[in-house]
Amino acid sequence: MGIYDKYVLPKILNMVMQTPDLTKLRAALVPMAKGRVLEIGIGSGLNLPFYDKQVKVTGVDPSAELQVYARDLARDHAIDVEFVTDTAEALASENNFFDTAVVTWSLCTIPNATDTLLEVHRVLKPGGKLIFVEHGRAPDAHVVKWQDRLNPTWRKITGGCNLNREPDQSLIDTGFTIDHLDQGYLRGPRWATYNYRGVAQPNK
Ligand SMILES: C[S@@+](CC[C@H](N)C(=O)[O-])C[C@H]1O[C@@H](n2cnc3c(N)ncnc32)[C@H](O)[C@@H]1O
Repeated sequence: MGIYDKYVLPKILNMVMQTPDLTKLRAALVPMAKGRVLEIGIGSGLNLPFYDKQVKVTGVDPSAELQVYARDLARDHAIDVEFVTDTAEALASENNFFDTAVVTWSLCTIPNATDTLLEVHRVLKPGGKLIFVEHGRAPDAHVVKWQDRLNPTWRKITGGCNLNREPDQSLIDTGFTIDHLDQGYLRGPRWATYNYRGVAQPNK
């Protein structure tokens, strides 16, 4: 890992992931998490202030640098978090263990989103919920053209984030039923701000 990815990118990510639009979505969705919670790509822990105090969170993220911020937030907000530096594509948890999984703006970056969702499917209990907020492929052809063009450069400066993934289709392909889905642009450049948010459950 180079100096940029190790020392500069974590600071940038922690800052840009705190815009008012993103914080509003965290506040709307994260409080729905109940019981044993798996957070995939917990990053700097920006969802932690919005959890119900009763939950027990397992936070998976290979970035030890981002976890420094997340540990502070867990302490400040009195949230019980076990931090794990595994990758989401190969979780150590047993089958049917979690009541809720949470993933926010990470399926874009995790190298293999399909393997990740198959793992989430495996470790969620029957009737468990996956709460998701992701950016991805826009519905407008002229925006998609720019997403595809910019993606190789964007990936290099953002630690591997993709502009043009389709999280809703990935959920269906990996055996989830989407109970609720809202889609739309947030403020900012359209190629970076088309968001998918909602709740899905594993077909079991
Ligand atoms: C854009 S950040 C989002 C962080 C956080 N979810 C949020 O909402 O602020 C993407 C996160 O995915 C994490 N990530 C990358 N590869 C991963 C993997 N294989 N497994 C789990 N997390 C991964 C990164 O370390 C980073 O924390």
